Amino acid sequence: MAWHFTAAFMIATCLMLFPRSEQSSQGEVLQQLRKQLEYPRQLDVWNNPNSDPCYTQPTSVVTVACEGNAITELKIIGDRITKPPKFSGYPVSNITLSEAFVLDSFVTTLARLPALHVVILVSLGLWGPLPDKIHRLSSLQVLDLSSNFLYGSIPPKLSAMPKLHTLTLDGNFFNGTMPDWFNLYSNLTVLRLQRNRLKGPIPASIGKATMLSELALAGNSIAGEVPQLGSLNKLEMLDLRDNELDGELPELPTALVTILLSKNSLKGEIPEQFGQLNRLQHLDLSFNFLVGKPPEKLFALPSISYLNLAANMLSGSFSTSLTCSSTLGFVDLSTNQLTGDLPVCLNVNVNNRVVKFDGNCFSDDPEHQHETKYCQQPHKGRGSNKDVGLVVTVVGVVFIVLVLSLILMASNRRSCQRVLAEQQLLQKQMQDNSTSGMSTELLVNARYISQAVKLGTQIMPMYRAFSLEELKEATKSFERSAFLGEGSIGKLYKGKLENGTLIAIRCLALHQRYSIRNLKLRLDLLAKLRHPNLVCLLGHCIDGEVDESSVKRVFLVYEYVPSGTFPSYLSGKELKIK
Ligand SMILES: *[C@@H]1O[C@H](CO)[C@@H](O)[C@H](O)[C@H]1NC(C)=O
Ligand SMILES: *[C@@H]1O[C@H](CO)[C@@H](O)[C@H](O)[C@H]1NC(C)=O
Ligand SMILES: *[C@@H]1O[C@H](CO)[C@@H](O)[C@H](O)[C@H]1NC(C)=O
Repeated sequence: MAWHFTAAFMIATCLMLFPRSEQSSQGEVLQQLRKQLEYPRQLDVWNNPNSDPCYTQPTSVVTVACEGNAITELKIIGDRITKPPKFSGYPVSNITLSEAFVLDSFVTTLARLPALHVVILVSLGLWGPLPDKIHRLSSLQVLDLSSNFLYGSIPPKLSAMPKLHTLTLDGNFFNGTMPDWFNLYSNLTVLRLQRNRLKGPIPASIGKATMLSELALAGNSIAGEVPQLGSLNKLEMLDLRDNELDGELPELPTALVTILLSKNSLKGEIPEQFGQLNRLQHLDLSFNFLVGKPPEKLFALPSISYLNLAANMLSGSFSTSLTCSSTLGFVDLSTNQLTGDLPVCLNVNVNNRVVKFDGNCFSDDPEHQHETKYCQQPHKGRGSNKDVGLVVTVVGVVFIVLVLSLILMASNRRSCQRVLAEQQLLQKQMQDNSTSGMSTELLVNARYISQAVKLGTQIMPMYRAFSLEELKEATKSFERSAFLGEGSIGKLYKGKLENGTLIAIRCLALHQRYSIRNLKLRLDLLAKLRHPNLVCLLGHCIDGEVDESSVKRVFLVYEYVPSGTFPSYLSGKELKIK
């Protein structure tokens, strides 16, 4: 009997002393992950279990990087991009991974690669609550699990990952409150939790995350005030759009380059301190309840290029000496209660600057301003006053929109005020179908009215980069039947995305002088120019991105609505979408 034990002991010792080579066991882990992910086609490159994963050629959708022989980076971008209309924590066939998938076991498998620094697992259909044991990946610096079906709370143990500096969980179903562990956790530089269902306030402890350079929480149900962020002196990007924030705007840190706070319920005046944010390029405060006169220094900030103050309750008149920075390319002041003359530098034709100022009480362009009667009476709130003349002209449409809005409100978290604000803009659009002011030809095409406008209260889809494959699939490789026509700035195609969204694709042939960097800046500006009463730009695709010198084409992807009149959108089959 005893020798049995001894033999067993010796074998066990041998196994411990001579573990199978690291590569092969890592290879096994990858195969295991592939199986748990239900063999997505992106991982067909791992078909040969004997090839060393560290020496597989990285692609744009799958990357395995190694240091020494240990896997340090794992990136897999899947193609499960469809979101079901309702997700309540159970698998949805062909959209999420199957019922057999257990996120907890998946994370356990992942933790068998202890040297991982970077984990990017996007659009793979992962579903379930994210387990606390994710913190076993103790070397992790970057974690990106965007566009999956994760729900529940963001695990508190994430704060026990000392090296984690970038956390991206966009486009999931997290439905707890905002994490409140920032006082434990001072190393975070990028936090993106956009398009989830997070509730509650932004915790004050966020002020302790002093390394933070990007904070993006757009598209949740976050309420309460914007906390004091003054201590975040590295913060460059703040995106809190489309939440339920109220209260007054605090002073903001001076490193900020981008501030996006639209579609909340912010009140009070725009702080004068915003006029000292010398690095600021993009400021979007539209669709709030801001009052008073905007600080004139905003227009003269040295780097400002995009300034959107539309659909607030701003009032007062600008001084004639107001100056604009030469960098200022887009200003939207529409749907406020501003009075007096439009300052010279905001005149539409200066410097190709796009300026929108309809729906105010300016003395310029009275045709598109509120009626004198409206401008003379004091106003309390946006929604409370109706321009009777306007309502009469568009009564049919507004009535339908109102009914639609009411139906939507039942299932939508948006406030009533918000609905009325959108409606007001819609009225404006009916009145002003000239799309004046938008000299950016790319954006203008009167035939397309965005789905976002159609549904009045819906969130605009997020802007994203499309792959050429995706566009080819949508248009059956740009076949003849998808061709809509050719305009002055390129060919136009129509297509259908995998999730059923109809799109219009504009193909632009590029002049050589565009560098990729330059191009991306421009596309970025275009994305920012998205506005609910314009055509909805969904994203872009750069053909030949890998090699900078060979960029030939850029595709701009818009939401497509077959031509027709506005009421037909409302009465057509598409009403069934919601
Ligand atoms: C979060 O979502 C899951 C799945 O839909 C649900 O079971 C759970 O009750 C939700 N939790 C909260 C706090 O709403
Ligand atoms: C799911 O995908 C399979 C294989 O691609 C297909 O046969 C099946 O019809 C799909 N089911 C649904 C509900 O779309
Ligand atoms: C921040 O990062 C440094 C270096 O990686 C590490 O030594 C330190 O413990 C981290 N601090 C916290 C509070 O996690």
